[in-house]
Amino acid sequence: MVRQPKVGAAQSSPTLPTPAQGVRWTTPIVETPGIVVLASWIYRLVRLLVLLPFRFPVMVASTTAVVACWWYLSWPGLAALAGGLSVASLVWWRTWPHSYRYCVSWRLLAWWRHLVVYRRHWQPVLVISGLAESYQERRYLPRIRRVTCNARADYVRVSLVAGTAPSDFEHRVVELAHGFAAPSCRVTVNGPRAITLEFPRHDTLAEPLDALPIPEAPDLSALSVGKREDGTPWKLRLHGTHVLIVGVTGAGKGSVLWSAIRSMLPAIADGTAQVWGIDPKRMELAYGRDLFARYADTGESAVELLEHAVAQMQERAERYAGKQRSHTPTTADPFVVVVLDEVAFLTAYHPDRDVRKRSENAIATLTSQGRSVGFCVLAALQDPRKEVMNLRNLFPDKIALRLDEASQVDMALGEGARERGAEAHLIDPTLPGVAYVRLETSPSPVRVRAAFVSDDDITAMAGRYGTASSATEEGA
Ligand SMILES: Nc1ncnc2c1ncn2[C@@H]1O[C@H](COP(=O)(O)OP(=O)(O)OP(=O)(O)O)[C@@H](O)[C@H]1O
Ligand SMILES: [Mg+2]
Repeated sequence: MVRQPKVGAAQSSPTLPTPAQGVRWTTPIVETPGIVVLASWIYRLVRLLVLLPFRFPVMVASTTAVVACWWYLSWPGLAALAGGLSVASLVWWRTWPHSYRYCVSWRLLAWWRHLVVYRRHWQPVLVISGLAESYQERRYLPRIRRVTCNARADYVRVSLVAGTAPSDFEHRVVELAHGFAAPSCRVTVNGPRAITLEFPRHDTLAEPLDALPIPEAPDLSALSVGKREDGTPWKLRLHGTHVLIVGVTGAGKGSVLWSAIRSMLPAIADGTAQVWGIDPKRMELAYGRDLFARYADTGESAVELLEHAVAQMQERAERYAGKQRSHTPTTADPFVVVVLDEVAFLTAYHPDRDVRKRSENAIATLTSQGRSVGFCVLAALQDPRKEVMNLRNLFPDKIALRLDEASQVDMALGEGARERGAEAHLIDPTLPGVAYVRLETSPSPVRVRAAFVSDDDITAMAGRYGTASSATEEGA
């Protein structure tokens, strides 16, 4: 409880100046003269009227046009004009739906969303999320330049305040998404002091995606494996990198593995690519066993397969030394993808210490030296902690499917991924195959969904592209 000093009571502190006894201190009230208030209101009104055509040109032009029509044609004329315009826009909509949507529907929607969602909540959301300083200083508030819409999302173009950077927004994407009631938020840099915030209006990845068509000529550095949140294809690079897929059980690791294998099929068929499979659980890859040039499903056989890959890789590196610095897939020197499901079985859970050590050494050698000679490791893992998989930093590309804990997001995708919006621990369990990835072009993670390759698809793939020449490691 705050104790108020009694009026007239002497203050006992010798250091503080005390008001004279019996004097009541009040804040002086200075009244603004009425003429100043009136002048200030008139100034604001004039400024608003002058700026209105610049801020809302379409609205001002259409209102002026309506008033002018009413002035010249009176009510019946105005009604006839409105009827004519409605019929014309109906004809436009039926005849050229695309251009109508682009010119009318999305613009009207953008105008509405600008007014009702972004303009209305802009200042409070930015202040509370820490992107603007105070409610008073509008000068230091980033400004909305433009809002545009398409069928999927709203795009809010923003001018930054001097002294702030796009990364300030990238670190607040979660707050921004919640602030504007969007499923997510993505930041794109347009230029100096200009960014665009992308707010999807609904989850475009809610519907599962069927297995994608098999390409005629696969691009091993951009294999189509699913869809990105913005509706564009999700392309996965395998040639020249190694990929680690992390996700809890049932998160959909299998769909990423199989979608990648599916888009490589013509290269497997013509011998310029080979897939070597290791499936300790015997549940994931066994279905399409005929597609693998080599296959192993026990600890010992898996180590042999890995060591065989290392030997081939080193033989190739020896041949290339001093002659070529990169690999081009040919039938003589095919691109080799070692697919490893549940890699922790080999590196952490196998009871034989020798198997654990040898597999770790082989994976480390392949991931650190195989990239430029045409060897890639595509591994799946449930638990990304260091105790389970201390080689995860040797995988340049990582995919985070649904995870158990928030702390695992940065382990899977790298420092700062969670801050930039990769909420892999919040992925809905009813959406298997949904993941976050980091693309080369941007540090901001992108939400994607892998296509689902069903057992029937795998059987059909194995039937059409499977080779009788595939070898099984001893002990498998
Ligand atoms: N991309 C996807 N789209 C729709 N459904 C999917 C997708 N991926 C997986 N599923 C569904 O989720 C189930 C589990 O997927 P999957 O076996 O690939 O998970 P996992 O991560 O490999 O799990 P585990 O670690 O237990 O092997 C599948 O049987 C399938 O029904
Ligand atoms: Mg699996």
